[in-house]
Amino acid sequence: MNQTHKPKLVISTGAGMSAESGISTFRDSGGLWEQHNVMDVASADGFARNPELVHRFYNARRHDLVKAQPNAGHRAIVDLEKDFDVYVITQNVDDLHERAGSSHVTHLHGELMKVRTIDPPYRVYALSPDNLDTTPESRDADGRLLRPHIVFFQEAVPEIETAIEIVREADIFVVIGTSMAVYPAASLINFVRPGVPVYYIDPRPAPTPAGVKVIAKTASEGLAELSRELRSILSQPPL
Ligand code: OAD
Repeated sequence: MNQTHKPKLVISTGAGMSAESGISTFRDSGGLWEQHNVMDVASADGFARNPELVHRFYNARRHDLVKAQPNAGHRAIVDLEKDFDVYVITQNVDDLHERAGSSHVTHLHGELMKVRTIDPPYRVYALSPDNLDTTPESRDADGRLLRPHIVFFQEAVPEIETAIEIVREADIFVVIGTSMAVYPAASLINFVRPGVPVYYIDPRPAPTPAGVKVIAKTASEGLAELSRELRSILSQPPL
C-alpha cells in the first residue's frame, strides 16, 4: 500500500459517540433535553435572560466530562489513522476525541473545556481540570467577562465552512451517533462528492438518504465492523 497517499476518511460524530463513555446524549429517552429546557440553558436568549443558570449547566457538564474516559469507539478512530488520513468533525463539546489521540478534530458546537471573552475580539482560554467552574462574574486577567466556549442555539456556527471543505475532499464519509436533528451539522452529508461511500453508525438511526450504508450498532461495535470492512477494501488490488 502506498502510505504517502492514504484515502481521506472523514468522520462526523454526535453525542452517541460519547454515550459509551457515560456522557448523556440530548434527545434519547432520559437525555439532557428531557431534564433541561434547551432554550433556557443552550440558547443566546437563555444566556441573556439567566447567565447564572447557563454557567451552572456547563459547569455540571464539565464535572461529568473530567470523570469520563474515551471509549473503544474513540480509540478505533485513532487506530484508523494507520491506514487513512482521518478527519473528525464533531458536534460534541467534549474533548474525548483529543484525549483518545485523534490528530484532526473540528468542533462545530464549541468546546466545554474552554471559555471565551463575551466581547470581540474574542479570546479563548483553556480551563484546567482543577478549575472547572465559571460564573457570570468570571473575568480574564484583563477584566473581560467570560462565557462558555459553546455555540448557543440562535448563534452562527463559525466552523461550518471549514467542515464543508473537509467533507468535499472525503474519499469515505462516516456519520456516527447523531439524530441528525440539528443544522447546519446535519447538512454536511450533502457536500459529499457523488460516488463516495457513506456509512452511518447508530443503534437507532435517523432516516438517511438513499445509498447510505447503515450500521445499526453502538459506536464501538459499529466502528469495529466498519474498520474491518474498510481495511478489507484497502487490501483489495485496484481494478
Ligand atoms: P442527539 O441526542 O440528538 O442524538 C444522539 C444519537 O446518538 C441518537 O441518534 C442515538 O440513537 C445515538 N446513540 C445513542 N447511544 C449510542 C451509542 N452507544 N453509540 C452510537 N450512537 C448512539 O445528539 P446529537 O445528534 O449529537 O448542540 O445532537 C446534536 C446537537 O443537539 C448537540 O451538539 C447539541 C444538541 O442540542 C448544542 O447544544 C449546540
